[in-house]
This record gives sequence, C-alpha cells and structure tokens, in this order.
Amino acid sequence: MEEILDKINNDKEFIAIIEPLLKNNYVLEMKKYRQHYETSCYDHCLEAAYYCYKICKKFNLDYVSTAKAAMVHDLFLYDWRKRLPDRKGLHAFTHPRTAYENACKIMEINDLQKDIILKHMWPLTIKLPRYKESYILTLVDKYCALNESYHEIYSRYSQKKAFRYLYLCLSLLIIRL
Ligand SMILES: [Fe+2]
Ligand SMILES: [Fe+2]
Repeated sequence: MEEILDKINNDKEFIAIIEPLLKNNYVLEMKKYRQHYETSCYDHCLEAAYYCYKICKKFNLDYVSTAKAAMVHDLFLYDWRKRLPDRKGLHAFTHPRTAYENACKIMEINDLQKDIILKHMWPLTIKLPRYKESYILTLVDKYCALNESYHEIYSRYSQKKAFRYLYLCLSLLIIRL
C-alpha cells in the first residue's frame, strides 16, 4: 500500500483532478472507516481512483469523470461491520446508493459518474453498467479488494501449520500440473 500511495502522491495530474475531493470533509471522513482489513475506505477509494485514471487514460476514455467517481464510490460513511437499527438491507447491495446520495451533496455528478457509482458492485447487483468506464471500476474495485485482503490473510495465517501445509500441497499440485 505504501508503494502505491507514494506513486499516487507523485502523480501531479491525477492529484490535480481529485484535489478538491481530497480536501472535502465528507471524503476525509472515510479515513475513519475500515473497508477491507486494515485499509481505510479513503485509501481504498484513492487506490481505485488512481487505477481507473490510469486505465481510462490509456484507452482514451473519460478519465477525469471516472477518477472523481471512483474517489467517492464507497462514500457510505459508516462501519459496515456493525449492525445499526436504522440501516435496512445488506450493505453489499445498499451502499452504492448511499455513496451516490452522499456524493451528490459534495459534487456535480454527470450520468457517467452516476452509473459508475451505482453499478460498482456489479455483478452482485444485477443491473448492467452502461459505460465502459463503469466496467473498469467494477474490475478495479475487485482487484483492490483482493489486494487489500490478500496481504492481511497471508500475514495472519502464514504462521499457522495448517496454512503452511495447505500452501505446500497446493504448490506441489501446481508443479505437477
Ligand atoms: Fe463498494
Ligand atoms: Fe470499493
């Protein structure tokens, strides 16, 4: 995570695009909430925004709108691990709408950005994304989630005998294939 954060902070164009969001109190509040393991919602969104920016720029897509939308795609502002009486429905299905409604309070949102935020959990949420940029965030989001979880799972379980035994068996199996 540290390496990618250094890269992000040194990318002047990317930082200039999302700078107003980085100074926004709603966005800064994401630092309080954990998304995957030790990664905050803020760092998760920042990383996703950066990858979306790089990919969309490479494919001549709307990288400015996409980077901004990705920066707020998880702006739900609560601890999703805790059950709250006023929260209805499963977090996985409801948080894109909450993030979208919060994002509307702090920035102008175009149709592309609305689609990106509301559909980012696809294919869990069934409605198909309408734009290539939306598909890019759905993939980047899952990649970031895996990345953020993998390191934690590995460092947590790598000391356990069963984990090492399983890891060894899988490695041997892969070598034999
Ligand atoms: Fe999300
Ligand atoms: Fe996310």
